[in-house]
Amino acid sequence: MHSLQQNVLAPSLLAGDHSHLARSVRDVEAYGLQWLHIDIMDGHFVPNLTFGPATVAALRNNFSLFFDVHLMLDNPHNYVKPFADAGADLISIHIEPEYDHGETLRHISDLGCRKGIVLNPGTPADSVEGLLDAVDLVLVMTVQPGFGGQSFREDMLPKLSRIDTWRRERNLRFRLEVDGGINLQTAGQCREHGADTFVAGTAFFNAEDKQAFVRSIESPGSAQPLG
Ligand code: DX5
Ligand code: ZN
Repeated sequence: MHSLQQNVLAPSLLAGDHSHLARSVRDVEAYGLQWLHIDIMDGHFVPNLTFGPATVAALRNNFSLFFDVHLMLDNPHNYVKPFADAGADLISIHIEPEYDHGETLRHISDLGCRKGIVLNPGTPADSVEGLLDAVDLVLVMTVQPGFGGQSFREDMLPKLSRIDTWRRERNLRFRLEVDGGINLQTAGQCREHGADTFVAGTAFFNAEDKQAFVRSIESPGSAQPLG
């Protein structure tokens, strides 16, 4: 099945070198990529901590990549402004915590950013159905968020298909992103189920031939087989 959108690879900074973040981001730029995925964790919604707005702002001063900021926070509504001010281009918020999702998405727009909604593996597709016309991106987590390097959850594929079907039926244009355990093989499976935006941390930063990895994800038809 052909995707509605151009395929995008968004390397996840979480798997970069935290003592040389700029070096890791330069790697992303060097391969001609446009997007950088930045994971923000609060130690409550997920059992880990990562970056804050100051780090995003510092990177913004040095890079013009599209910053895809994934907020894994209990109270994301309190943090959209700091991350928008820091230079996020897209801010994604989870559906699971209790807050006004619609209002927060509008706030993200008012701040001049694209907006996304995220579902954990245990959260059904139906939970975001009513928001699909209000977002630029739907992120389907393919691992339980919190840590890089986990195994892809194949049981998320039907959820992708369901959301892709709604997108087609309603003629919507949001991106459908996957995050967690994405490598060449699992990206292919996700693409077949409608995904067009692929977050890869470990697989990107550990790839021996990054050029081939990028080509296989973003231009699968033209990619050379990887031996
Ligand atoms: C997980 C994060 C991911 C993470 C993915 O909670 O949301 O973005 O960096 O890492 P990999 O690609 O290693 O599974
Ligand atoms: Zn993420």
